[in-house]
Amino acid sequence: MIKIAPSILAADFARLGSEAEEVRAAGADWLHFDVMDGEFVHNITIGLPVLKSLRRHTDMFTDVHMMVTRPRRYAGRFCELGADMVTVHVEADEPVEIIKCLQEIHAYGRKAGLALKPATPGSVVLPYLEYLDMVLVMTVEPGFGGQRLQREALTKMRGVRALIDQYKPGCLLEADGGVNEETAPLVADSGADVLVAGNAIFAKSDRAAAIAALRMAADVRA
Ligand code: DX5
Ligand code: ZN
Repeated sequence: MIKIAPSILAADFARLGSEAEEVRAAGADWLHFDVMDGEFVHNITIGLPVLKSLRRHTDMFTDVHMMVTRPRRYAGRFCELGADMVTVHVEADEPVEIIKCLQEIHAYGRKAGLALKPATPGSVVLPYLEYLDMVLVMTVEPGFGGQRLQREALTKMRGVRALIDQYKPGCLLEADGGVNEETAPLVADSGADVLVAGNAIFAKSDRAAAIAALRMAADVRA
């Protein structure tokens, strides 16, 4: 079954604990936690102390998306503070450092993911697959919520899905950016297992209805 992961980038940061609990009660599966360093992307969001505080308010499965240069510097700290999954960008460091980072995340007993920006070809995941629990395909340029999904990313998702099915069955595929009721069927049909949605959930007053609508729209593949 498709998992729905609300991105707290679109939440009210001053009320993060209650926002998280609200989407959990509304039927969300995971919480997507977007970390931006102002260098890998042109935006700065939240980091270690916010995860630490949030952990006091929710034990929801938290998927930390690190849009951070040289993520190995901080990935272990996110694990220590209770991230359930840490996803790093393949473009953020040399391959050897990325592999060490993925191994370190596993050494903490957490799940490890690899994210791809829109311009990065899907085939780059191949040498990393053995270290991965998830591949995150960015369906918008990382840095900001509320953008339109790039249709070209769907073709790439299909390619990544085929590689996963062939070489690492069980590895999840996550779509991130511009996922809403209209685009959910497209990403689900392209092989996504996990749908990240920021504005399509947090901008709505009825979060339960928003999550149910996304789930129903994505059901094409279920
Ligand atoms: C963008 C982030 C996304 C973003 C998605 O860099 O990685 O997780 O919050 O937001 P929406 O769903 O509004 O496009
Ligand atoms: Zn994200």
